[in-house]
Amino acid sequence: MILALACIALVGGVLLVVIAVMRWYLSPDIAVLSRLQSGLYSLSEVVQAELSACRGTSGAGDDRRQQILRVRGQQARVYDKFAAEFLRSETAREHHAPASTSMPLFLPLLSKPDKVFVLSDLDLAKWVLSDATTFDRSQTLESFADAFQLDSVFTTKDASLYRDLRSFFAHSTNGLSSDQYETMMATFQRRVDSMLSTFAGSAGVPFIPKVEGMVLEAYADAFFGMRTFPNADECAILIKRIWQIKSLRNNIPSHRWNPLLRLRMRRQQSRLFRIIEEAQALVNDVDSSVADEMAKVYIANGHGPGNLLNALIPLYEAISRGVVYALFELASSQSVQEELREEIARHSDDELEYCKSTNTLLHRVWKETLRLRPPTPNQTRRVTTGHNALFPIGSKVAIVWSVFHLDPDVWGPDATEFRPQRWIGVTGEQEQNYRPFGMGVQECVAQNYGSFGGRVMLKRIVESTSIQHKGDGPTTGRVGTDRGYSRGPDPDASILRFVRRTQGTDVSSDDHRVSRNVDD
Ligand code: HEM
Repeated sequence: MILALACIALVGGVLLVVIAVMRWYLSPDIAVLSRLQSGLYSLSEVVQAELSACRGTSGAGDDRRQQILRVRGQQARVYDKFAAEFLRSETAREHHAPASTSMPLFLPLLSKPDKVFVLSDLDLAKWVLSDATTFDRSQTLESFADAFQLDSVFTTKDASLYRDLRSFFAHSTNGLSSDQYETMMATFQRRVDSMLSTFAGSAGVPFIPKVEGMVLEAYADAFFGMRTFPNADECAILIKRIWQIKSLRNNIPSHRWNPLLRLRMRRQQSRLFRIIEEAQALVNDVDSSVADEMAKVYIANGHGPGNLLNALIPLYEAISRGVVYALFELASSQSVQEELREEIARHSDDELEYCKSTNTLLHRVWKETLRLRPPTPNQTRRVTTGHNALFPIGSKVAIVWSVFHLDPDVWGPDATEFRPQRWIGVTGEQEQNYRPFGMGVQECVAQNYGSFGGRVMLKRIVESTSIQHKGDGPTTGRVGTDRGYSRGPDPDASILRFVRRTQGTDVSSDDHRVSRNVDD
């Protein structure tokens, strides 16, 4: 018995040593990180080391040096308050001296097994997002690609396919003629009317999936010419559920190998893929030239014709969130809603021009919503090389836009308030810090197209219904950062109701519970 125990202890000990050696061997170069985390070096010393690394180099190295010098100037002003708060609470818990008040350029998220840095400096963000070789996006989206079997503009590792897809989306969404805009507007309005009609007499219908399904149908129609998209609501729900399970399994070690989660995910994936197959058959039936062109891009690059989700996810997801968030904001701000309704009524004769204009309250509502609740809240990249002295190879760098969108030094003391009128006197610095469509080489190619659709749908909903919160529950669910990770519409958010309007008055009401939404 004793011998057996001794043997077990010996084998266990050897295993532990092997694991420790393997961890050491496999771990990325953490010199910079450990210097920062050791507390022995100040941030400025680490930055100094970065400067020394650039010394004597020209071209990119010189640009980098200039950038760092500017960054140091900015450091006193911009910082990641979410990460700083986290550090403060950690420090308080461990009874250390109060955290330094010097503002960090970036902070590691200590709670993550993977090294993740949240940037708090705009210049640093510009560097990360403009150097696609050092900071790769596709590697951070591997699990996203895997969950939906994607090989999309966001996830592909094939540089030539990426370039062609980007250009396909750019030219399919930009430079539309007035006639094309008019057709789009008619399509969106018809879809809104059809969604609102399904609410009648059906109390208890969750409103978020309804709106999201509607946006999905609207964009599938406007982009591919699909007259119907069967099970659009369910499709939108499945996309979120699958992503939620994937994110649980990625981020919470105890869930990683949970067989029940795996099983649930398989079931939902197979249902989603069936819906997408049916949708694909309908696209084939309508003989869509846009769909044909997209398929050709894949085929020319040596791939299969492509999963329809590759296009649908960029097309509808961010816009649907934007529309849902704007409805929340308008429900919380009845005076803005009323003013908007009056503006819409004044433009009943020039609807198209009104929806295209960016000098309207409608547009300011849209912009302000995207500031408070950016639908794509993070741009995250993986560091591909150790030849930069700030981030270790293999780590992730996250730019969390709320850090910049809610900075009181930039936006003033009411930075977290919904105040569309602030856009009338916006400053250059505020424009610089406003990035709902991202920044850098992979910035969104369809900003005008997406915003036009968002405005048309909002206009139609607001002119035909009054949007209200129901009950005394919390009225908004801010998209904030939870240790750097974004959330969709808050699961605890309130219940909205749409009150139908006929000739300027409210005539009936239906209540719609906000359904649970899913983390990114
Ligand atoms: C409210 C609407 C939208 C928002 C807030 C939004 C936001 C974004 C953001 C933040 C990125 C950068 C992602 C990253 O770098 O990781 C992006 C990229 C992209 N978006 Fe949008 N987007 C919207 C609508 C659309 C629409 C309607 C399309 C139509 C096809 C579209 C197509 C794309 C494409 C193709 C890219 C990838 C560009 C590249 O990787 O080079 N987006 N979008």
